[in-house]
Formats: sequence, C-alpha cells, structure tokens
Amino acid sequence: MTTPVTTPLTVAGADEVKPPAGPGDGHHLLSIADLGAEGIEEVLRVSDAFVEVARRPIPKVPALRGRTVVTLFAEESTRTRFSFETAAKRLSADVLSFAVASSSLKKGESLRDTVETVAAMGVDAFIIRHPSAGAPAQVARWVEASVINAGDGWHEHPTQALLDCYTIRQVLAERVGRPVAETGVEVFAGLKVAIVGDVAHSRVARSGVLALAALGAEVTVVAPGSLMPPSLEGWPIAGVSHDLDAVLPTVDVCYLLRLQTERGTGSFLPSVREYTAGFGLTARRAALLAEGAIVMHPGPMNRGVEIADEVADLPRSVVLRQVANGVAVRMAVLFLLLGQVAGGDAAGSVAGLGAGPGGADG
Ligand code: CP
Repeated sequence: MTTPVTTPLTVAGADEVKPPAGPGDGHHLLSIADLGAEGIEEVLRVSDAFVEVARRPIPKVPALRGRTVVTLFAEESTRTRFSFETAAKRLSADVLSFAVASSSLKKGESLRDTVETVAAMGVDAFIIRHPSAGAPAQVARWVEASVINAGDGWHEHPTQALLDCYTIRQVLAERVGRPVAETGVEVFAGLKVAIVGDVAHSRVARSGVLALAALGAEVTVVAPGSLMPPSLEGWPIAGVSHDLDAVLPTVDVCYLLRLQTERGTGSFLPSVREYTAGFGLTARRAALLAEGAIVMHPGPMNRGVEIADEVADLPRSVVLRQVANGVAVRMAVLFLLLGQVAGGDAAGSVAGLGAGPGGADG
C-alpha cells in the first residue's frame, strides 16, 4: 500500500539559484533545508517566548525598534502577509508593504532594479512571495538585507512548515499536560503524518516534508497519481499512497493540501468532484481517523473540495491555531535573523522579552 522512499529532497531548478552564502549563515531563510533539525528546534523554542508575548494586554516588544522590514508579495496572500506584518509590528519594526500592482514593476522595471531601489532606502529584511521558484534566493544575491522566503512557486514555504511544526508540538504537549516550553522535538519521533492532496504543485508539502522528516516524523504523501510529482526520488518520506481510506486510521496528523486551481491543478483531474470522492476529507473519512488525530490545512481552504465544511470546524481541526501560531513563529524568525545586531545574542536576548507589558513601546 505504501512505498518507502528515504533519500534527501531536492527541487529541480532551485538549487542552482541558491546564493553562495546560504541561510545556514543565519542571514536569510530561503529553505527548511538550510535550518536543519537544530535550526528548526531553535525557532520553535524562541516562538514559545513570542506566544507568551501574544497573551499580554499589549502584545508588543521593542526588540526590532529602528529596523525596517519590507513585504514584497508578487502573488496573492492573506495569512502569510498579514502574519508577517503583524509579527514585524509586534517587534516594533517599521513595515513597508510593497504593492506590486501600483509599483514600477507594472511599468516594466525588473525585480532586480526594484529590490535594489527599495534596498537603497535602508531596509533590513525583504519578505518575498513570488510565483517563480528561486526568486527569493535570487534577491538574496542582490541585496545586503536578510531575505525570507514567504512562498516561491512550487519550491518552498518555510515559515508555513515552521508554524505547522510548532502547532503539532503544542497540541502534543497539551495532550499530556506538559508546558509547551518544556517540550522538545522528541515528540516528533515516529509521529505519523499524512500529507494529502496536490503534492505535485505544493510548496507547503515540500517544506513540510523536509521539516517533519528532519524532526523524526514519518511522512506519507497521499495523492492521485496525476497530482504526485513525476519523481519522489530524494523526498525524505516514509511512504507513498493512493488510498486515503487505508492511511487515515494509521496517522496522528492528517495534513490536507489545497487544490490549487490557479496553478492549473484542474487540468490534472477528471473533475473536482472525482477528486473529492477519492481524496477529500469527508465526514465519513474523518471518522476513520484515530482518536486524538488532528486535521491541519495551510489555508486557504476549499471547503467541500479537499475538506468537508463540517470537518473543517471539528475540534480536531487546528487550522485557526496554525494561523494564530504563525504570528509568534514569524516573530521568532524575524527576531533570530534581525535581532542579533540590535541586541547581541538573539537567543539569549529572548529572556529579556519577559518584562511584561512594560516591555512594549506602544
Ligand atoms: N498558507 C498560506 O500561505 O496562505 P496565504 O496564501 O493566504 O498566505
């Protein structure tokens, strides 16, 4: 039923455009692969501090005061853009929201000239979403500022994977009554995760597989043959399946992917109705899940397609918790990338965020 695949993941075309000084240097976040298990664990640990900040009456700290962050989204977004902008503002950074539709990109200015122009105004970080795989890595070659990949084509969406891992760890910690901050990544060892749906066109799946596998989870990808990548060689997955009903009772996490009609997914399927019949998490299928198994989705959800309306709203669905945690996780990413110069050792400085509401500057 499932076929083991164990070698490391690579994405065609993406590796050639990696900058010589990779995000492993702590300056950029372009791929989950650049973090490794230790880097992911550090982000989760620092996120704990920012979840605590979010519970304060004034959920704001001065950690990045004087820093300037630009969000440059050349593709639609609700969650990621607002989440990053909220995160940066809660860290007291100045946020410039680049509106592609009203920019000189529309007059034919190149992406390179655009980012170099904006960078010349004094920018500490670019947060980039782009339809082309590798675009954030290209920008990282052109500017001194940190670059964060907020989703590039079919390549990666690293902060989505980080917030998903944070949410899983939080749920597992709460289940055994342990404080999240006292819970390490050992909870991922042997955790069974199904990533279901349009794997072929999904940057969320690529980053998710890398992050979960790095932490020790066993990931099975589930999709119709036409929505599987042509080759899964190099994906660090435990298995491949085309039979969702058989996989569901075996997993701790059922992670649904969006059917990406804007990327032409529809042409890979006989019909959306057939997709739902075979791979949608209907109420009948959700009942096959083990007690305690959770349902995740990166959003935006196609209710009635990959997830039934009533399943999306079940207590076992943690979709809105993923969104809430996204702000804290992105605060952690910004803090780790930009907080070093302002505050010395970033991880060490997290303790200083515990000053309570008085630590906020507005
Ligand atoms: N999950 C996600 O990337 O959502 P948005 O496209 O709304 O940012």
